[in-house]
Amino acid sequence: MHGANLGTLLRTCDAVGACLAVPRFRWVPEALEKGNTLRHPSCVHWVNDPLEWLARQREDGTRVVGVELADEAVRLADLPAARQRTVAVLGHEQYGIPPDALDLLDQAVEIPMVGTGHSLNVAVAGSLVLYKLAGLL
Ligand SMILES: C[S@@+](CC[C@H](N)C(=O)[O-])C[C@H]1O[C@@H](n2cnc3c(N)ncnc32)[C@H](O)[C@@H]1O
Repeated sequence: MHGANLGTLLRTCDAVGACLAVPRFRWVPEALEKGNTLRHPSCVHWVNDPLEWLARQREDGTRVVGVELADEAVRLADLPAARQRTVAVLGHEQYGIPPDALDLLDQAVEIPMVGTGHSLNVAVAGSLVLYKLAGLL
């Protein structure tokens, strides 16, 4: 929804050695350009059917971590660095992670907040979790 988030996430992915998986929506290529100051090609996976893709990742042994404020979520400080191939799932900026995708998570992680806002910007939340998973924080 908010222009620069995909480009921001792409830069974080590059910084931590991750790839960014994005749906093949018409607006995604332009959104990836916004806020992305990388001068070299980055690792982007184009996904036709996100739910089917996520299910296949799990079947192939990849751990799926949802970044979401949820009752059963672990706090970011308690999230260990990834020791195996891991996918971090981010939610829609308005609706969060849809129920179908929540069913495919191995674990959820939340970033505690003490302010008055209900949630963080998705690129900020994703970047914090990616750094923790990468063991760089
Ligand atoms: C703006 S938030 C979505 C808020 C949405 N209104 C909701 O109720 O879920 C967009 C996404 O950023 C991530 N996010 C934002 N703040 C977070 C937090 N404190 N902990 C974990 N994830 C967060 C989640 O992936 C969330 O789905």
